[in-house]
Amino acid sequence: MTTATTTEDLGAFLAANAPADTARVLAALAAASIRLVDRIRHGSLAGALDADVGPGHDGVPQKALDVFADQTFIDGLRGAGVRGIVSEERDDPLALDEAGTLLVAIDPLDGSSNIDANVTIGTVFSVLDAPPGPVTEAAFLQAGARQRAAGIFVYGPHVSFAFTVGRGTAIAILDPDTATYRVTARAAIPEQSSEFAINVSNARRWSAPVRAYIEDLIEGDEGPRRQNFNMRWVGSMVADVYRILGRGGVYLYPEDSREGYEHGRLRLLYEASPVAFLIEQAGGAATDGFRRILEIEPKAAHERTPLIFGSKTKVERIVRYYGEGVMEIEAPLFATRGLLRR
Ligand code: F6P
Repeated sequence: MTTATTTEDLGAFLAANAPADTARVLAALAAASIRLVDRIRHGSLAGALDADVGPGHDGVPQKALDVFADQTFIDGLRGAGVRGIVSEERDDPLALDEAGTLLVAIDPLDGSSNIDANVTIGTVFSVLDAPPGPVTEAAFLQAGARQRAAGIFVYGPHVSFAFTVGRGTAIAILDPDTATYRVTARAAIPEQSSEFAINVSNARRWSAPVRAYIEDLIEGDEGPRRQNFNMRWVGSMVADVYRILGRGGVYLYPEDSREGYEHGRLRLLYEASPVAFLIEQAGGAATDGFRRILEIEPKAAHERTPLIFGSKTKVERIVRYYGEGVMEIEAPLFATRGLLRR
C-alpha cells in the first residue's frame, strides 16, 4: 500500500473524488459502520453478539450481530438517496427512498463464525444505479462492471475502510479520537508474494485445477514452482481482502463437491462483485476460474459464485490451470507427490 504523507478527512476526499449521490451513500455507510463498531467493541458486555436468533439462509443460523448490523446499515441508508437494498440477511429486496437514484447490495456482517472468537469481521457492499421502476430483484441483476462504488469495512485491531468509486482503491482508517475516517493510502497490490488463502479442509472435494494448483504451492521449492509458499486463512473474507490489498497473494473459495457448493460459497452480488471491483482497482484480478467476476451477469440476488482473487499474475496462472484441462487429473491431493502423505 502506498501510504500518504498527509491524511484527509473521508468527507473531503469523497467530495473531491466521487459524484455527489455516491459520496452521500458512502458517507452514510461509513457513519453506520461506526455505530456497528461501537457495538462490536463492547463484546459480550453488549449481550451475546453470537447468539443464534434466526434460521438465516440455507440453514446457516443468523446471529444477533448479523441482525444488528443489517438494521444499522438499513437505518443509516434512509434519507441517503438509496432506492432499495439487497441484504444477505433478507430474502427479498427492501424498498427505501422512492426518489433515490442508487441501489445498495450488502453483506452487513462478513465472518459471522468469528464473532465469538474476537477475530476480525467486516462488511462488504456494492453501489449500483437504480433503473427506473419499482425495487424488484431484477433491478439488482447488473454485472459488477456496472458498479458505481464498492467497499469493505474491516473491524480488526483497528478499523479500516477500503473503497473504490472507479478511480483506484483508497484506504481509510477510523480515528478513534474523533470517530471519523481518514483516508491514508492508495492500495497497489504487489505482484510478488508467497501467501495463499484457501480452506484446505475441503481439499478432498476440490476440482482438479484447484487441487493441482495448491499441490504445486505446497510442494514449495521441491516442486514445479521452485519456491516456498505460506498459507493464511482467516475465515472472514474481508480480512483476507485487506491483507491482499497490502501484501499481495491470492484467495480462493472455489466450487467443490459438497452439496450446495457446486458454485462455491460466496455471493456474487454483495461479496464477489464488490471485492473484484476493489481488487481490480488496486491492480489485481478476480475470476471464477473461467470468467472475470465483473463480467458475470447475475441471475438471482443471492446467487453464489466461485471466487479467486489477488495478485494479477497469480490469478492468471490459476485461470491457466482451469483452462488447460487439469480437470482430468484424478490423483487425490497430497497422495501422489505431496509432502503431507502419511
Ligand atoms: O460466508 C462468507 C465467509 O464467511 C467468508 O468471510 C470466509 O472467507 C468464508 O465464508 C469462510 O468459509 P469456511 O468456513 O467454509 O472456511
